[in-house]
Amino acid sequence: MSTQIEPVATNTDFPTPKNCFALTVTAVEHYTDRLFKFRITRPASFRFRSGEFVMIGLPNSEKPIFRAYSIASPAWDDEIEFYSIKVEDGPLTQHLQKIKPGDTVLMRQKSTGTLVNDALIPGKRLYMFSTGTGIAPFASLIRDPETYEKFEEVILTHTCRDVEDLKYGQELVANIIDDPLLGELAADKLRLYSTVTRQEYIHTGRITDLMTNGKMFEDLGLPVISPETDRGMICGSMDMLKDTKTVLESFGLIEGANNKPATFVVERAFVG
Ligand code: A2P
Repeated sequence: MSTQIEPVATNTDFPTPKNCFALTVTAVEHYTDRLFKFRITRPASFRFRSGEFVMIGLPNSEKPIFRAYSIASPAWDDEIEFYSIKVEDGPLTQHLQKIKPGDTVLMRQKSTGTLVNDALIPGKRLYMFSTGTGIAPFASLIRDPETYEKFEEVILTHTCRDVEDLKYGQELVANIIDDPLLGELAADKLRLYSTVTRQEYIHTGRITDLMTNGKMFEDLGLPVISPETDRGMICGSMDMLKDTKTVLESFGLIEGANNKPATFVVERAFVG
């Protein structure tokens, strides 16, 4: 009688591709059947700026499939965290969702991205707009003390379809507030505004609509976004980026980049 063997997701004898680190998984946490986070070891030579993304893959073929993932941990952390969607037939995530501590993940050696503090001109208030796994780069930035040195207020908005999809962000913010060092910096500055679009909840609706109709500002007790005081960062699906950008532009904000800082920046959430 033969035993059915699961296809190997990781840990094979394929050589590590050029310009890649082969890193060890240290922790995996599944939030829902569509969302999970994992942490891997960080090589001493790997440096990045909080908010950047990097290409990751699995050592399961001669030519591994790589996808861009925002690094969810801050630049000071000695491990690297990612927050991922699980797609049943996703070329990478169908395998990635099976990883366990001790498995190997490949990571390209160079990171990049526009959701970095340097791409914004100074302001009073920083809004971070995210949907789904688009919260990942902000999970990095809200754990970076620099964010609190630069802004008086930091508002992270996270919109998902269902309430259970909000858990990663809610745990993250609760842990920051509980942290002895970060908590002191963030307690009076960081606010999380969670909304869902397909269930009943305290706050419901797309963030674009909640800004346009003024509900978000009313809920937060803040004035409408103004280029004088407010800065924005956006991360989500292509449609969400486009629509949120339009709303910010209607408030007078202007899109910036690393080499041309302005009042808001945009990055697509990379999944697959
Ligand atoms: P909705 O349920 O109304 O589509 P997804 O899982 O499809 O990426 O969606 C994640 C969240 O982002 C959902 O709450 C979804 O709302 C919302 N969303 C999707 N498209 C947009 C958009 N163009 N602008 C703002 N929010 C959006």
